[in-house]
Amino acid sequence: MSIFNKINQEALPQHVAIIMDGNGRWALQRRMPRLQGHRSAVKAVRACVEASAELGLKTLTLYAFSTENWQRPKHEIAALMGLLRLYSAQEKSELKEQGVEVHVLGDINSLDKSTQNAIEDIVLETTGGIKLRLNLMISYSGREDIIRACRSIADQVAIGKIDPDQINADIFNDYLFTKELPDPDLLIRTSGEVRISNFMLWQIAYTEIHITPVLWPDFSKDDLFQAIWDYQERDRRFGRVNA
Ligand code: IPE
Ligand code: IPE
Ligand code: MG
Repeated sequence: MSIFNKINQEALPQHVAIIMDGNGRWALQRRMPRLQGHRSAVKAVRACVEASAELGLKTLTLYAFSTENWQRPKHEIAALMGLLRLYSAQEKSELKEQGVEVHVLGDINSLDKSTQNAIEDIVLETTGGIKLRLNLMISYSGREDIIRACRSIADQVAIGKIDPDQINADIFNDYLFTKELPDPDLLIRTSGEVRISNFMLWQIAYTEIHITPVLWPDFSKDDLFQAIWDYQERDRRFGRVNA
């Protein structure tokens, strides 16, 4: 029986997030420049989005570029931005057709103008897609997300719109990039690294984590199905005891 058929459609995670890692090592193993790894990553993104839609997932979030990634060599950053523009241009009609609505979350203002325009295009083109919401996290940092929220809430307090005693987790959520989204039920990290790397620190409080040694460019539909099946085997307790 294929892994797809083992998945319980009634117990799908509402929101799956992925730290797409290992492009550089994938290229290194093949004695190719890191860039080739990033290029090959695009087909894994495509497969993953398709598989999510086939399965009926409602929300897929992909960590594509972190705030810390700005510290990489200039040529690598330029190549990643180029790929982002290429992805946006090439995939927008296909995504629209599939009913995928793309959102881009992160400090978009730090991107160059042409990349910002490309992002705006794919977001506009896919607005209204109801099958799957795809969040691309770009120039994103979990700590920055929290700090921005604090700043905005402090502004609201300063003008008397929020009483500090009212602030709770629900209100706090409303000021994060991920407002209106449920917390991820499942977080997948590829390439075997066992760390969070500043991703959605607030949102993953009770997220199930699945780490696979597969390097991102090799990540297939079956790898996604495998992760979801693994998730469905977990006993989520949220601090309580099971009857
Ligand atoms: C993930 O692959 C892509 C980004 C972080 C942009 P890496 O480029 O981090 O690949 P490794 O971890 O060096 O193998
Ligand atoms: C995490 O991968 C960021 C993204 C996948 C976008 P990194 O490769 O940047 O993380 P570290 O440096 O291994 O922690
Ligand atoms: Mg990495």
